[in-house]
Amino acid sequence: MKKTISILSILGSITLIGIISCSKQSADTLTTTPTTPTTPVTSQCDTSAVKYSADITSILQNNCYSCHGSGNTGGSGGILLEGYSNLKIWADNGKLVGNVTHASGFVAMPYGLPKLPDCQVNKIVAWVHQGALNN
Ligand code: HEC
Repeated sequence: MKKTISILSILGSITLIGIISCSKQSADTLTTTPTTPTTPVTSQCDTSAVKYSADITSILQNNCYSCHGSGNTGGSGGILLEGYSNLKIWADNGKLVGNVTHASGFVAMPYGLPKLPDCQVNKIVAWVHQGALNN
């Protein structure tokens, strides 16, 4: 009886080793295809200290001033976002955040265009929540 058990356990171990080496091989085969490393976007987006001068103006310059810049507000409801005091009005009344986050009940901005990348939206929201300072 003891002998049978040990033979069985030896057989069992051999089968187990077989399974392990097989699965190892297939795992190796799978990893040979190079995968493009996905860079986590969130870790690169620092919203801890957003500055009007360094962050907000460049986002607006690239995405909003074409319709809301000085001298070009004709087709955009006459809304001027260039210049701190002009933007501050829209930051304080909640519309800036509602527009760029595409919240329901707000006109989605940029008008007729896709939503800004998450990091830019998050920076605008963070700046408003940090008091929309002229920093
Ligand atoms: C292609 C032109 C265009 C671009 C680009 C654009 N807007 Fe607008 N924006 C408009 C128009 C048109 C309106 C008026 C919409 C309305 O009242 O229906 C408007 C209105 C607004 C308003 C007032 C909305 C309200 O609820 O009264 C805000 C705030 C605003 N835009 C912010 C932005 C911001 C921030 C960006 C950049 C991320 C941006 N817009 C980009 C055309 C544009």
